[in-house]
Amino acid sequence: MGSTRVLTGITTSGTPHLGNYVGAIRPSVRASLVAHQEAFYFLADYHALIKVDDPARIQRSTLEIAATWMACGLDPARVTFYRQSDIPEIPELTWLLTCVCGKGLLNRAHAYKAALDKNAAAGNEPEDGVTAGLFMYPVLMAADILMFNAHRVPVGRDQVQHIEMARDMANSFNHLYGEHFTLPEAVIDDNVATLPGLDGRKMSKSYDNTIPLFAPPEQLKKLIMGIVTDSRAPGEPKSTEGSALFQIYQAFATPEETAALADAYARGIAWGEAKELLFERIDREIAPMRESYNALMANPAQVEALLLQGAAKARAMATPFAAKLRHAVGLRALGAADTKGAMGGTAKPGKADKPALPSFKQYREADGKFYFKLVDAKGSLLLQGPGFDSPKDCAAAIAALRQGSAGTGSPQADAALQALREAEEN
Ligand code: TRP
Repeated sequence: MGSTRVLTGITTSGTPHLGNYVGAIRPSVRASLVAHQEAFYFLADYHALIKVDDPARIQRSTLEIAATWMACGLDPARVTFYRQSDIPEIPELTWLLTCVCGKGLLNRAHAYKAALDKNAAAGNEPEDGVTAGLFMYPVLMAADILMFNAHRVPVGRDQVQHIEMARDMANSFNHLYGEHFTLPEAVIDDNVATLPGLDGRKMSKSYDNTIPLFAPPEQLKKLIMGIVTDSRAPGEPKSTEGSALFQIYQAFATPEETAALADAYARGIAWGEAKELLFERIDREIAPMRESYNALMANPAQVEALLLQGAAKARAMATPFAAKLRHAVGLRALGAADTKGAMGGTAKPGKADKPALPSFKQYREADGKFYFKLVDAKGSLLLQGPGFDSPKDCAAAIAALRQGSAGTGSPQADAALQALREAEEN
């Protein structure tokens, strides 16, 4: 049995903060120690270029994030840890996927739509400031994932749609050129806390409310002293409910320590004192890692060397796979066209002579309902189903359409369903 492949990327556009640590770094490092799992973690520096046009910041962030993950215990011998831009096969695959990705699919991407909405609200031209890079973001991300045939992709909720899109692209490619890609699944860890920031909103760079993970102790303390609280005086009982301070404490403390702080709240601990406790608790966990981090930051050549080793490991897989994909789409030596095994025996015969068929996709949306859609072989939408409360109802609706016992109202969709039925009869 092959092991499960888990892959995730970290955009190199900022300095890691406590929210990143609690929400992504700590759980990923822990997960990487699980057996029967092959982990791929990478620095998504091509993605960073979409948001950041300051070269020094890209370089700095790449070093900071690499050093952070290593300082937090990621073992480059156990996992494949690399920098996206060291793998030229990724942009190459991006192009192959671009050519099977329906443009309409990208039009519906949340991040792109949000940019359009923002322009509309500001009274700007619809596409003002929207680069083709932002538009193509999901294709690059699909290439990251499909390049290594990852099964599971741990991400935040905001990224789930991107994984769905990667599945769509993998499906389309597989339909056209043979089964090359595994269909990835998003993994969302509901046990992982979303950390509040200094102002009580979710800790996020975009709110400017973050606490850098490896701030020097004095700065860490100063920032913690600035976390919002209410105006209750020392001696007055305090509520843990809605207390950012309490939530951050909880993300670091054991259940017993957390219960003790809740007790102290009830007994009217002074905010200053509670903040002191929080600082000490965080610093206890962070201090040893901070030391490794500072050592790595002082030695970028060492980090660089580790990343290059990771890239070599990644490319040992990516290079032959990319060759196989090139062959599959017809980018191949002219004499090799109908020579099976021309790629050193690794090439699968393509399915290009089989007509490309439409297919149904089932998925769940953020509203909790189950949806389906019918797409053609290139992934373009032919028919969008309504939301169903259960996957069973959704499947039944698909079955009715397949059998022709339900109408679609769309000649295009009807023709596609007819083609599906004919293919099944043959
Ligand atoms: N887009 C992801 C984010 O902003 C980062 C990312 C890039 C990624 N490529 C990926 C995550 C591939 C998972 C898999 O968080």
